[in-house]
Amino acid sequence: MARILITSAIPYINGIKHLGNLVGSQLPADLYARYCRARGHEVLFLCATDEHGTPAELAAAKAGKPVAEYCAEMWEVQKGLSDGFRLSFDKFGRSSSPQNHALTQHFAGRLAEAGLIEERTERQVYSNADGRFLPDRYIEGTCPNCGYERARGDQCENCTKQLDPTDLIEPRSAISGSTDLEVRETKHLYLKQRSLRGELSAWIDGKADWPVLTTSIARKWLNDGDGLQDRGITRDLDWGIPVRKGTEPWPGMEGKVFYVWFDAPIEYIACAKEWSDANGEPDAAWERWWRTDKGADDVRYVQFMGKDNVPFHTLSFPATIIGSGEPWKLVDYIKSFNYLNYDGGQFSTSQGRGVFMDQALEVLPADYWRWWLLSHAPESSDSEFTWENFQASANKDLADVLGNFVSRVTKFCRSKFGEAVPEGGAYDAPEAAVIAALEERLESYQRHMEAIEVRKAATELRAIWVIGNEYLQEAAPWAVFKTDPARAAAIVRFSLNLIRFYAAISAPFIPDAAAAMLEAMGSEAGWPEDVNAALEALPEGHGFTVPENLFRKISDEERADWAARFAGTR
Ligand code: MF3
Ligand code: ZN
Repeated sequence: MARILITSAIPYINGIKHLGNLVGSQLPADLYARYCRARGHEVLFLCATDEHGTPAELAAAKAGKPVAEYCAEMWEVQKGLSDGFRLSFDKFGRSSSPQNHALTQHFAGRLAEAGLIEERTERQVYSNADGRFLPDRYIEGTCPNCGYERARGDQCENCTKQLDPTDLIEPRSAISGSTDLEVRETKHLYLKQRSLRGELSAWIDGKADWPVLTTSIARKWLNDGDGLQDRGITRDLDWGIPVRKGTEPWPGMEGKVFYVWFDAPIEYIACAKEWSDANGEPDAAWERWWRTDKGADDVRYVQFMGKDNVPFHTLSFPATIIGSGEPWKLVDYIKSFNYLNYDGGQFSTSQGRGVFMDQALEVLPADYWRWWLLSHAPESSDSEFTWENFQASANKDLADVLGNFVSRVTKFCRSKFGEAVPEGGAYDAPEAAVIAALEERLESYQRHMEAIEVRKAATELRAIWVIGNEYLQEAAPWAVFKTDPARAAAIVRFSLNLIRFYAAISAPFIPDAAAAMLEAMGSEAGWPEDVNAALEALPEGHGFTVPENLFRKISDEERADWAARFAGTR
């Protein structure tokens, strides 16, 4: 038994995530967490909301709410949706938690003591009317390139030209509309990542087993141009973690907060403390996952994220950890994902294009989405969601193959033998052949799950379902029953055991269906360490029930309706 720490990239607080976000981190992380638990490992699976930064402030302003209140509400919404998708986090925390405040300030203090923080003076736009510095995207004006009147200080939405706030004609505050702006000097903290380049590079070199997608992005950032840049870790914003040196004030940094990308990954650690605090446990409970001097040296730490997050996890966050000089756990394996596209284009949060987590659950239960998304995870390249593909995959894999098997076996048994595992007859050559095939397939399924090869694991699982269907078709207990009821009883007994076997190994992908199957079989799950024994687990005479239809089919009409509904006007 091993101890496995699993984190998913923490979703931004502003707004509901779409299915592309979900399949890029939280969902595969959940698959892996469920699998590891099922294999008897001790797992700590953490996620949280990423609550600081300009986007959170802007979204709150748009909703007309104080930002703290907005974040608290959106946390509830996101928590509800992650429960709806059966994401089995041990803790769904918040990067705005007091635990993260303290820990982020602690790290900054340690980095300063290590001489890794530099103060730099910069020139930035200040709004007298708003009484604050304005981040680039809080400044609006006329685009010098195309004349668009609502261009932002970082970019013109109309002609896409990258801008500097000082390029704008008649610049004004996006908050108040005031044109009473001036350029002022302001001080910021920089993390001297450059001086950690050698250590980071050596660390990445030791990760030959990581996906190429992960290491190639890291190497590009380490080596491109001037190589790794020092990074500004503070901002002139109200909402965020106040800049302090540990528990001490930081002279000259009053009124400033840490940059969201500095405090967000630290929440991975703080979230573990949120978890143990919530359980009323002492610090030792979370430190044994995170501190190598307190037991975490035998933890395997796996992170999940989309490819856009890779630089922050391969370089910035490790720089924070290594730079602290303290014995924190570094990540052992980073699983990163490409993008999921939506029906010939991209998912778009701003345009409401694609399916969002809340809408998905309004349309169909979680298992349908989990199965499609995981079996089409964008691993080796970007992948695409189409309604045709979704319909075909749900109808075939879930309804025709797995659902149909369960329904045929249980209904046939009930009609001929009653609602108990039938007695008599014995397993024979066909059953032995199935067991042999299952042993081989199961081993490869496990190999793919351990390697976090999500699509390959799904393909293997589907093949395992097909084995049962083909077996039932050939063994044809309904025909055999007429001449040899005892043999038919053995076939049905074997098939009922197969349902239980399927429930156990399918649960990481489709937890609700698996639970319904187990409930119907009146049995607990248990990973089939020994396939032979697993297929005799339900003894003769053991009661069962016929479950409700596990999966329904998606009609052509529904498919067309949904395609129209989600075309892009959320
Ligand atoms: N909120 C970021 C995103 O969705 C991910 C933050 S991951 C963390 O892209 F490491 F910073 F926590
Ligand atoms: Zn323009």
